[in-house]
Amino acid sequence: MRRRRSRKQRGLIIAIDGPAGSGKSTTAKLVAKRLGYLYIDTGAMYRALTLKALQLGLDLNDSGALSKLADNTKIKLVQHEDGVRTYLDGSDVSEQIRHPEVTRSVGPVCSVRHVRRVLVRQQQELGRDGGVVMEGRDIGTVVFPSADLKVYLDASIRERAKRRYLQLKAEGRVTSMEVLEQEIAQRDMQDMSRRESPLRMAKDAVLIDTTAQTIEEQVDEVIALAREVIRGQRRWRVKTENTFYRFSWHFCRTLFRVLFRLTVEGEGNVIRRDGVILASNHLSLLDPPVIGTATVRELNYLAKKELFEYPILKQIITRLNAMPVDRGGVDRVALRRVTGLLRNGQAVLLFPEGTRSEDGSLGRARTGVGMVAVKSGKPIVPISISGTRKAYRCLLGLDKIRVRFGKPIFPERLKLTGNRRKDYQLITDEVMNRIRKLQGGSVRR
Ligand code: DC
Repeated sequence: MRRRRSRKQRGLIIAIDGPAGSGKSTTAKLVAKRLGYLYIDTGAMYRALTLKALQLGLDLNDSGALSKLADNTKIKLVQHEDGVRTYLDGSDVSEQIRHPEVTRSVGPVCSVRHVRRVLVRQQQELGRDGGVVMEGRDIGTVVFPSADLKVYLDASIRERAKRRYLQLKAEGRVTSMEVLEQEIAQRDMQDMSRRESPLRMAKDAVLIDTTAQTIEEQVDEVIALAREVIRGQRRWRVKTENTFYRFSWHFCRTLFRVLFRLTVEGEGNVIRRDGVILASNHLSLLDPPVIGTATVRELNYLAKKELFEYPILKQIITRLNAMPVDRGGVDRVALRRVTGLLRNGQAVLLFPEGTRSEDGSLGRARTGVGMVAVKSGKPIVPISISGTRKAYRCLLGLDKIRVRFGKPIFPERLKLTGNRRKDYQLITDEVMNRIRKLQGGSVRR
C-alpha cells in the first residue's frame, strides 16, 4: 500500500531499451509528454562525449584518454519548450551530436568501461526521483534494474532501414536501402556483442515489436502498461472478458505456483497485441493449463476431438477456449479456425510435436506450426516447458515446473524459398531449434 502511494507521488521509472531505429526516441518522448514525465535520452550523452573526443582529435581506441575525458566533461540534458536539448560543457550541441561522423564513431566510446560507469552514474542520478522515461540500450539491465516498467522495442531490420531511408530522404540525403540495412545490421552486432553492457532484453521487460505498428499504437501500448503499474495492478492479471477463464486462470496459477513451484521466464516475449502463435514442447496433460497461466494473454487451445464427446468436459474446455482437432491427418476445419483466430488478433497455443513425448526428449515435429504461421502471417513464440512429466517430483520439492518463453520468430524475416511445403518445414525447423536452445541442452522432465 505504501509502495503504491509513493509510486504515485514520485512517478514511475520507465526504462525503454532497444536497437537503433526501433522507434524508441519517438515513443519515449511522447510517453513522457503524455505522463508529464522527464524524457532522458542516454544515447545523446554518449554522442556528446564522442563529439568532444572528435573535436579534440582523440584516438578513439585510447580508452585511457576517453576515460579521462568522461571524468572531465559536463553533459546536461535540459528540458525546453520544444523538447530536450543536449549541452556539452555549457554549449548546446543538440544538432551536432546527430552528425553521421558522430554516429559512426560512438561505438568505441560507449564500449569503454569507465566511460559507461561515469555516464551510468549520472543517468541514475537523473532518474533517481522517478517520473522519468529513460531511453537507451542498458536502462532495464544496468542503469535501473529495478525500474517500475521495462519495455523493449524492436522491429525488423528492413523496417528500421525503411524508417531511416525516409528520414534521410526528407532531409534531402540519398542512400540505398541495401546500404542502410547493412549499416543497421552492423550496429546491432556492435551493440549486442560488446563486452560492456551489451544490448539485450531484461528478463522482466515487455517486448513491443513496432514493425507493423503506428507511433500512436506504440505509445498507447506503453501508456497502458504504465497505467497498470500506477494503479498498483500487478501485471500478472490475465487480460480477458471471459469470467470463467479468468477465474480458472487465477485458481490454477495459484495452485501451480504453490504446489509445483511454477517459475516463468521471458513472459514479456509474448506479444501483447495482435495475433501470436505459441509453440511448446509437450510432456504432459498439465502443459496447456500451465502455459495458459504462465502468460497474461488469454490463449486458445487445440484439444483432441475425443475429449468433446463427454458433455460436461466439453462444456468446460470449450469455455476455456479449446477447439476440437482430429489428429488423424490434416484437419482443415481446425486449421481454418486457428488461422481465423490469429488474424483476429488472438493467441493460440500449439504443440508442434502433436503428441506428448514419451521419454521427455524433443520429438519430431509435424509441419503444422509452419503452415499456420504462413497462412496467418503471425509470429511464433517458442516455449520450453519442463517439470510437468513427473509433476509428483515437484510436489515432493525435488523439481520445479519451469516455463521459458523465447524471442518471437517472424517467418517473413527468415530466408523463405517461396515453395510452401519447403517453407512450412523451414519455419517448423526454426521453431524446434529455438525450443531446443531454450531447453539449454539439458532436457528436464
Ligand atoms: O540511441 P542512439 O543511436 O542515439 O545511441 C547512440 C549510441 O550510444 C549507440 O551506438 C549505442 C550507444 N548507447 C549505449 O551504448 N547505451 C545507452 N544507454 C544508449 C546508447
